[in-house]
Amino acid sequence: MKILVVGGGGREHAIIRKLKENPSVEKIYALPGNGGIARDAECVPIGAKDLPAIAAFAAEKAVDFAVVAPDDPLVLGAVDLLEEKDIPCFGPRRNAAIIEGSKAFSKRLMKKYGIPTAACEIFDDMNKALAYVKAAPLPVVVKADGLALGKGVLICQTRDEAEEAVRAMMENRIFGESGARVVVEEFLEGPEVSVLSFTDGETIVPMVSSMDHKRALDGDEGLNTGGMGTIAPNPFYTDEVAARCMEEIFLPTIRAMKAEGRPFRGCLYFGLMITRDGPKVIEYNCRFGDPETQVVLPLLKTDLLTIMRAVSEGRLAEVDVEFRKGAACCLILASGGYPSHYEKGKEIIVTDAAKLSRAEVFHAGTALKDGKLVTSGGRVLGLTCTADTLAEAVAAAYDAAQGVTFEGAYYRRDIGARALRNS
Ligand code: AMP
Ligand code: GLY
Repeated sequence: MKILVVGGGGREHAIIRKLKENPSVEKIYALPGNGGIARDAECVPIGAKDLPAIAAFAAEKAVDFAVVAPDDPLVLGAVDLLEEKDIPCFGPRRNAAIIEGSKAFSKRLMKKYGIPTAACEIFDDMNKALAYVKAAPLPVVVKADGLALGKGVLICQTRDEAEEAVRAMMENRIFGESGARVVVEEFLEGPEVSVLSFTDGETIVPMVSSMDHKRALDGDEGLNTGGMGTIAPNPFYTDEVAARCMEEIFLPTIRAMKAEGRPFRGCLYFGLMITRDGPKVIEYNCRFGDPETQVVLPLLKTDLLTIMRAVSEGRLAEVDVEFRKGAACCLILASGGYPSHYEKGKEIIVTDAAKLSRAEVFHAGTALKDGKLVTSGGRVLGLTCTADTLAEAVAAAYDAAQGVTFEGAYYRRDIGARALRNS
């Protein structure tokens, strides 16, 4: 089979590695891929948002199956376009990807179907939003409606901050059109859990739970990033919480999407907060999380392509999806300065091949330049180790990090620490 994977980060690298385990896969095209993915797939310089070029390429190569991984092409309708060319796909159509593409949509959906989430108000009019935050309880959360590279959420401790957040989004459009509408939300407290799930719109199969570490610095200090590391499973996601999530959140969500005429097929990601009143939805994503995928897929025992094809054909119920016992940790090596300004083009140097070889290395922001691997993004590498226990997986990932470096490289020293304190 010839497979096309849209995207070019650590998540896509983890997906491609897993797809390659299926012996019927002869060829994988990555659009655009990256320097490390080039070792596992043929990288084609077509951007993940260039929908017409993606569809034309897929048709020209007569690919048998396509996986659209990032949010942007899904929200723009890449799956619809590929399906028009008769290419079976893993990923939601545009009318279902809106569950991530518009927070106003997802909040209204949850309200209508009684799915637990933070109370909120939605505003298209800046003056009304400003009047509302003047009286809202603090802290208050201000969110841009649309996609904003994971940065569209501002937690405001004071009224001045909240007013400034509303103005920045609605008046100054710091997130572009994504801020034309804002969601102002109640602040929730509790540990966060990421649950990725496979769903064909009827059946939903949660994957092993995970925990992201979104802030740049140790102790959850510093700016929000795309994610600085992950562990799986998440110790806060107990069997009791899992059962409640299935009843109160997962099944109601896919039923709601179906009832709205927007059946969701693909990977539905639940960003949850385990509050004193039970689990609540912080956000939905219409795709695999990054870097959650880099800990979840290495623990998957069942063949990924088999699952993905079953999802796309609406027969997920026929597949027995199994995960290994044990744990995984993914440590992200980032460019100095990320998530603010950072330099690119730094050569990646393996300082201890034996240590590095104990991790699965997923490339996020790398490129090939004159035959050498160099940095090309903020998050550069993800080092994943699996083991029987979380403590061993975390220790192994940190040990592997001693085997590779580049100028300015930094990583958090406390990935998994909170989970270990609670497991
Ligand atoms: P999101 O982009 O929706 O995942 O939000 C980014 C991060 O902001 C989340 O992972 C949470 O840590 C935090 N966050 C979002 N909404 C809330 C909320 N209502 N209460 C507390 N924290 C929140
Ligand atoms: N790691 C969070 C996300 O993929 O949105």
